Amino acid sequence: MDSVDELAQDARNAGAEVGLAGDTIVIRGGKPLRGEVSAGGAKNLATKAMVAALLGESPSILQDVPAISDVQIVSRMLEAYGVAVTSPEDGVLVLDPANVVRAHFAQIDALAGSSRIPILFCGPLLHRLGEALIPDLGGCRIGDRPIDFHLDALRAMGAIVDKSYEGIRITAPDGLTGANIELPFPSVGATEQVLLSAVRARGVTELKNAAIEPEIMDLIAVLQKMGAIIWTEADRTIFIEGVDTLTGYTHRSLFDRNEAASWACAALVTRGDIFVKGARQQELMTFLNVFRKVGGAFDVREDGIRFWHPGGSLNAVQVETDVHPGFMTDWQQPLVVVLTQAEGTSIVHETVYENRFGFTDALVEMGADIVVHQDGLASVTRRVPRRKLEQAAVITGPTPLHGADVRVPDLRGGFSYLIAALAADATSRVSNLGLISRGYEHFVDKLAALGADFDIED
Ligand code: UD1
Repeated sequence: MDSVDELAQDARNAGAEVGLAGDTIVIRGGKPLRGEVSAGGAKNLATKAMVAALLGESPSILQDVPAISDVQIVSRMLEAYGVAVTSPEDGVLVLDPANVVRAHFAQIDALAGSSRIPILFCGPLLHRLGEALIPDLGGCRIGDRPIDFHLDALRAMGAIVDKSYEGIRITAPDGLTGANIELPFPSVGATEQVLLSAVRARGVTELKNAAIEPEIMDLIAVLQKMGAIIWTEADRTIFIEGVDTLTGYTHRSLFDRNEAASWACAALVTRGDIFVKGARQQELMTFLNVFRKVGGAFDVREDGIRFWHPGGSLNAVQVETDVHPGFMTDWQQPLVVVLTQAEGTSIVHETVYENRFGFTDALVEMGADIVVHQDGLASVTRRVPRRKLEQAAVITGPTPLHGADVRVPDLRGGFSYLIAALAADATSRVSNLGLISRGYEHFVDKLAALGADFDIED
């Protein structure tokens, strides 16, 4: 477990990447958020599409790139591998992989502290350089987040994995070959690993039990533009036929559905009204059903979705997080804040990650009635064999939220603290703000545009 100081340092580094003015926000709550915000490009697509550019023989152009620190970190990693990264205008990146080189391990290691993306460089680096060195991996502190599926898939394709004192060294002396792979769980990252590795492997790869999140489908679209041959069958099986060369791509990123869902919850919990420009119904259907059941109102328009509190009380619900097309694990944190204001007892079962309710302690400090059952409540299917994944949060409401001094523990937990503070009846201080900039672009400006009452402090 990382120390409080390390987390604070990570937050400062992430905030500095996007020019955040300070690392603490003082929020005077109790005011409904009203107005319009734009959903940025999807964090979970943009960073992967950037890695895919390494596979091309010519430059790639990515549009609607979110202004978040995770994008900055991946840009620096690509630069460390010799990719020329330029931004001719806001939200556009040109990635030129003409001169791919071995990076200094220390450079990647220093960057990796706050990102799990390095593991996805494996396939492209094996094809370009015959070797990939992967440091110990960071990312949000929401459980162990192992990489065994990634390494097993690479081994199945012919890679040799050696653990060294620096991290993991992966080589493929004979190149990668297509393989039959079945994931023990439809992991997003492991599916992307197979896609990014199999597109240039010899022969056909069959990937069973793959994740089919919208961001993965968008990554497949990117790879197809580059020249890849990939098809998906109805039972979560993806086939990838390896090709000899790939070119660069021009692609506009999908909108960030996690950001859109977060602003929707912000509207509901502050009894406000927010139009999220760029949000699309298709990728949010499961979220919209839950939003409606809780008592939120929404209106799907041509250019976005309006979310608002229609008055009256909110309803308790039972939700289970799941892989797509289920209720996404990244939506539960802002939803939990909303449920503190619903009438009755709600239950949120977390079945994707093993430790994603740590953020609720601070909400309890703010007045919420939340009891976390580490071993779950009902017999929810274990989704990853051998690992204990069921956790349930029982939320009883409504309870007024009060001001508090809280530290952001991770990306999504962090946003949930912001909206709890905005809904609270007094002043709150939320520190480690930089961690939120890993995934929410211009969130301070967006809060100001929605009429939030706050100051940023160092
Ligand atoms: C991605 C998303 C994250 C989202 C998650 C699930 C990015 C940058 N992040 O994370 O926002 O919450 O998908 O939708 O896209 N697992 C293993 N072994 C592995 C890999 C995963 O046991 O080798 C387990 C994990 O510990 C976890 C579960 O599988 O319990 C899901 O992980 P995964 O889908 O891989 O999530 P990420 O790709 O890390």
